[in-house]
Amino acid sequence: MLDLFADEHPWQEPLGPGAAILRRFAIAHADTLLADIASVAAISPFRQMVTPGGYTMSVAMTNCGALGWTTDLHGYLYSPNDPQTNQHWPAMPDSFRLLADRAAREAGYPHFRPDACLINRYGVGSKLSLHQDKDEHEMRAPIVSVSLGLPAIFQFGGLHRSDPLQRVLLEHGDVVVWGGESRLFYHGIQPLKEGFHPATGRFRLNLTFRQVCKNE
Ligand code: SIN
Ligand code: FE2
Repeated sequence: MLDLFADEHPWQEPLGPGAAILRRFAIAHADTLLADIASVAAISPFRQMVTPGGYTMSVAMTNCGALGWTTDLHGYLYSPNDPQTNQHWPAMPDSFRLLADRAAREAGYPHFRPDACLINRYGVGSKLSLHQDKDEHEMRAPIVSVSLGLPAIFQFGGLHRSDPLQRVLLEHGDVVVWGGESRLFYHGIQPLKEGFHPATGRFRLNLTFRQVCKNE
């Protein structure tokens, strides 16, 4: 079959102040990233976290890196340990670190040194309600988000929950980077539609890289 997209080169679309979509930026590395996600999940399995309000999230999550994002009865926190295994989160694979650094650089953020990577797994109907990424201490560093597998609609708003939302379809290999003026912009993922992707089957996987600890 003729593959119309085999020679597609990545291209960049502006999303907001300090924010851009790097279309297909990760596509050439998708297989490695997916294999590395499986290795991480073999140590720290995907789980549906429960919010402090008692709501079970529809997205399944795990982490890798020095710190991992998690929930407990009191709130959201970054912890060096996986509360389910009582061990450190798995180390961040080199493939992750390299891609995050290249993507950040491409979007105008050189020297991105993430110490946390949240891995989200969306099944049919899974969603992430509108929120800000505000549990990190280093707000000068951007968020780098990598989409793999089934497409999803990403909502990107402003500093206030009520600000108008852009809705963009994120597809396999797309990377979104937001920082600077848009670092604290509200964002979310609309409920995943049923489908099948050759690389991930009935799921969408997303990596979000964060720098939690402050640079000296
Ligand atoms: C997130 O906001 O943490 C994830 C966004 C996404 O899944 O694209
Ligand atoms: Fe987020």
